[in-house]
Amino acid sequence: MKEKIEALMAEVEAVKAATKQDIEDARVRLLGKKGSITALFEEFRNVPAEQKKEFGAKLNVLKTAAAAKIEELREAMENSGAAAGAAASDLSMPGEPMELGSRHPVSIVRQEIVDIFRKFGYDVAEGPEIEDDWHVFEALNFPPEHPAREMQDTFFVSEGETAQDGSKHNPVLLRTHTSSVQVRTMEKMPLPIRVICPGRVFRNEAISARAHCIFHQVEGLYIDENVTFADMKQAILLFAREMFGPQAQIRMRPSYFPFTEPSAEVDVSCNICGGKGCNVCKGTGWLEILGCGMVDPNVLEASGIDSKKYSGFAFGMGIERIAMLKWQVKDLRNYFENDLRFLREFNTEL
Ligand code: PHE
Repeated sequence: MKEKIEALMAEVEAVKAATKQDIEDARVRLLGKKGSITALFEEFRNVPAEQKKEFGAKLNVLKTAAAAKIEELREAMENSGAAAGAAASDLSMPGEPMELGSRHPVSIVRQEIVDIFRKFGYDVAEGPEIEDDWHVFEALNFPPEHPAREMQDTFFVSEGETAQDGSKHNPVLLRTHTSSVQVRTMEKMPLPIRVICPGRVFRNEAISARAHCIFHQVEGLYIDENVTFADMKQAILLFAREMFGPQAQIRMRPSYFPFTEPSAEVDVSCNICGGKGCNVCKGTGWLEILGCGMVDPNVLEASGIDSKKYSGFAFGMGIERIAMLKWQVKDLRNYFENDLRFLREFNTEL
């Protein structure tokens, strides 16, 4: 018995394994149901009673040593990934494909608009989303009582200081349009100016299929000597043809903005029905795409530009709206919900 235990102990110590299978084989050979250590426990029954204590202890030491050795080999195998990998994986197998994301439809259209105006010689200007009253309203000729300043439209960050006469000074707010960036550009850039200002804007509106409290705009500004309404009309027509195709027509309707005079709303001929009338254009053949106008002299003067010498035009459009027309997206909320089924539809536009 003693010799057998010693021989097996030597065997346990000498066990080596190159693969997981080697370890399993050693376990079965030693500790399995028909393993040599298990067999020794069977023999132990016949050991004379007075030797039981001595051999019992030795056998237990042997069994524990064998189990520990197996465990040690397993751990070593798992830690050296190479050996495990070599045994478990087929290195010639093709890799798992990595799924690439796609650009968001708002980014795609924003880039398209920016690229079109870059071709026309416009620079891109950006500015802060948290703005002051001056850049969003005051410098843009909004009279103090204008409804757009009211809480229902604007998210205020702070109310600003109230002077003795009751007037409020420079509240801090989330910009409601990127015209604020145009003001910043007029304040610091040399003339002539030709910029577009893409960015995110905020309005305190109830969220629905047609309105959201967050959306994106691209606004444009062109200031030089002798800029006329005809220049504006031509720039917008060229833009519409680049964006919606060479057959696109535009029409202008008189409108009002505090910062432009005269002002207009621009419609483009419906690119779905070609102007015949369908449910997208509600039978009119026209789709509204942007607002525009000649920069009000008050706005030029507020930014230190001589309105006798210079004139200019400005325009502004909603990126989501253009994207809706381009792809016939019916519900504005799709743009903000990150539903992959929606986003994947734009995969091809990469
Ligand atoms: N700022 C206007 C808006 O947000 C759009 C606009 C820009 C209109 C420039 C005219 C000229 O609705």
